[in-house]
Formats: sequence, C-alpha cells, structure tokens
Amino acid sequence: MGANERPLHLLNYINGEWQGDNLETFDVINPATNELVGTMPNGTEKDVLAAIEGADAAFKEWKKLSAEERAAYLEKMYARLIERKEEIAQVLTEENGKPLKEARGEVLYAASFIKWYAEEGKRVYGRTIPSKGEGQRIQVIKQPVGVVAAITPWNFPAAMITRKLAPALAAGCTFIVKPPKETPLTAAKIMECAEEAGIPRGVVNMVLTPNEAFSETVQKSKVVRKLTFTGSTEVGKLLMKQSADTMKNISLELGGQAPLIVLDDADVETAVEGTIASKFRNAGQTCICANRIYVQSGIYDEFVGKLKEKVAELKVGNGLEEDVDIGPLINQKGYDKVVRHVEDAVAKGAEVLVGGKGHQTSEQDAPFFEPTLLINAKENMLCMTEETFGPVVPVQKVESDEEAVRLANDTPFGLAAYYFTENMSRGTKIGEALDYGIVGWNHGAPSAAQAPFGGTKQSGLGREGGAEGIEPFLETKYLSIGIK
Ligand code: SIN
Repeated sequence: MGANERPLHLLNYINGEWQGDNLETFDVINPATNELVGTMPNGTEKDVLAAIEGADAAFKEWKKLSAEERAAYLEKMYARLIERKEEIAQVLTEENGKPLKEARGEVLYAASFIKWYAEEGKRVYGRTIPSKGEGQRIQVIKQPVGVVAAITPWNFPAAMITRKLAPALAAGCTFIVKPPKETPLTAAKIMECAEEAGIPRGVVNMVLTPNEAFSETVQKSKVVRKLTFTGSTEVGKLLMKQSADTMKNISLELGGQAPLIVLDDADVETAVEGTIASKFRNAGQTCICANRIYVQSGIYDEFVGKLKEKVAELKVGNGLEEDVDIGPLINQKGYDKVVRHVEDAVAKGAEVLVGGKGHQTSEQDAPFFEPTLLINAKENMLCMTEETFGPVVPVQKVESDEEAVRLANDTPFGLAAYYFTENMSRGTKIGEALDYGIVGWNHGAPSAAQAPFGGTKQSGLGREGGAEGIEPFLETKYLSIGIK
C-alpha cells in the first residue's frame, strides 16, 4: 500500500457536491497485491437522474460563456492535474496495476487533452456562404450538442476521461462520466481537479453505478444528447442499438486487433523498438497495441533474434517498484484469456521463445503473465484473430507486401496498424492500403492529443483528439437570413 491515508474513501461528484456517503460501497482492489486501495459508493438510478438534472441546468449558463472564458477554466484544471501528477499516478498504479512510470506518462497524456482543447475551443468556426440573391444571407454556425454522457474504461483511467471531457467542455457542453468499477479512484481525483479549477457546479459530474443503471437511465433521457463510449465492440453495438430510441449522437471507440508488419528493408532496431513500445504498454492491455506480427522472410531471423533479447529483458512485478516494465493483468478473467490464447497457439503449432506462462511473484494469486514471444504463428490461432489484451507477441512469417497487407486487413476490426520499411514508395502504398483509422509507419506510439484517434469497421465511430475530436460535441446550424 502506498501513502499513509489509505484506504481511500471517495464519493460521487454530482452537481458540484460529493455525494453517496449513505450508500452501500464497493471495494477497489490492487490487482498486483489483492490489497484494498479504497472504496466508492454504489450509485443508483436516482444519482444518475440528479447528475442529468444538474448538467442540464448548468448547460444553460456554460454554453453562454465565451470560448476564452471556458479555456480559462480548462487551463486551471490542467494546472491542477500537473501539480497533482505524482499523487494521481500513484492511485492509478494501485488500482490499474500499470508501472508507475507509465502512470505518470498517462497523467501527462490526460492533461495534454485539457490544454489542447482549451485552445481548440477558440477555433470553432462557422461559415458564411454566398446566397443566390440579394435578399438572403446564409450563415453556418456551430453550437454545443448539450448534455454529454461518457462511459470510460479501466485501461486508461485518466486519459480516456479527459479525451472526452476536454473537447466537450471546450465546445460548451456539460458532462457526466461513469468510470469503470476497477478504476474509479483516479476518476474521482480528476473530478477533484475540475472542482479545484472552479468549474461551475453541474458542468462536470461523475456517477459510479452498475453499468445498466447508468446506460439505461441515460439512454431514456431526452436531455442527454450525446453518448460517448470507450470499451468493447460487443457493448458498443448494444449502446448503439439502445441509442436509437432517443436518436442520440453517439461516438464509439471500440476494440482493435492491430497487425504490425516488418518488411525486409526495415531498420531492425527501429522495428524491434516499435514492437516493444506498441505491444507491451500497459502489459498489452491497450486497444491499439500490436496484436499480431507479420515479418518478411528476408529479415525474419534477425528480427526474431533481436526481439527475443528485448522481450527477455522486460521486468515483471508490482508497478509501484520503479524499474518494473510489466504489471499484472487487470483481473483473473483477463489472465485466463491470455492463457487460453497461448495454449491454443501452442496446440496449433506455435513455439514459445520467451515466457508462455503465469509469472510467480511474492504476491499470492495475482494475475501476472510473463512477457511472451511466440513464433510459427498461423491465421487459425486465436491470438491472430482476437484481441489478446495481454503481453503476448505472436510472429508469423510472410513472403510479400501483398500477403502482409491481405492478412493485416483480414479482420472485422480497423483501429490501429503498424509497419516498418525504409522504402518511401513501398511505405506510401502500404499506408494507403491498410484499412485502419490509425497507422504507424516506423513508429509504435502514435497517440497524441493533437491527432485524431479512432477506428474503421467494427472498431468504432468518430474520432477523439485533434481538430476532429471537438466536432462530435457540436451541432451544425444553418441560419437563412432574409434581408430587405
Ligand atoms: C486505448 O487503448 O483505447 C487508448 C490508447 C491510447 O490512447 O493510446
């Protein structure tokens, strides 16, 4: 356990008040140690309704502020996150398990969205269009969509909130978030930063409830105009169906199944570095992490040899220890899936070069899995067709660019893809041929506040981040003005 005020007891943040002291609580457990990190109230439908009412009332005033005024609040919130970086990173590691160095990086990444959208809100431009005649003027203006509900995941407990909250607030919307039960404490700390920044009551709200209580209440509400979700494709499809009744504006950032291609003219060091960066961040529990690797035969032995050395060097352990690279998986269910994928691959002919099994630590029953390198991977293996969400790299040998691209695109998902080549013409063609929303060429870490993040096909709808990321929080209004 970290600092001396543990376990934490944090509350829901509804209409500017910390609420839920009278409710039943649930435990938040450190996946690395099974220790209690804190408790949170189990909110109810009533709490969600109170948050909607507060956000609706606040919207009437917040939307009237100028972009400059809203930016000033966001700048203050950014400053609070930066000032509290160490404290928030510590809680994040305790409830999520990721190494402290990654948790610190995530707090900075989370803060970067707030800073970026504080500025971007000032660039929400309309248009004036020449009309057909002297008697009409045509204006196009952008206005906030209204009250936004957000459902966020446990793998990035801070950044997936701010990537939605910052553009929503900058656009003039008000915001209600339901974080996951695994990582609500980081979310509550982010709400504290919003409160400390003086953001008016009701503009930002957080309600911890069971998933159904939140989504059903929000879906029925005519006041909530937008739903934004990061999570599984399965849940995304359900939310999309439910949204039809009130015709909500919906953004979905869903599962991935990222291919990573290494062509025979790649710089091997860059390709290995990119593979490690992409695959092992958060123990492989990111939607954009490389899931399956295709390596051209001419570079295969050299690439696999160097990758093996690097994978074997990765240190597994409790993320609070400074030199740890790989923390635990989030829970037993996640661990079991990784075991299933490795066993299936081995049964179908894959060879384990590094790892391949659970990692023993002094902590009992914690879901640590060894960083694992598999070769002789094939299309029929689970690890080549489903998102593994764990520290496993399966490598398949390919012969041509065409074969690599065909295999890479042969999936219902389209979030992120990576490839490594030093050849400009080859690289340009492959970048254009990959059917993905995010493509890294000689680069394994594409995420950035200023760039659009999101997928094609069953990986979702819409983009977060960049200039594109504020659009889903805006309505376009056409004003037709008759003049004399
Ligand atoms: C995700 O896993 O969905 C988020 C990863 C990122 O923002 O880099």
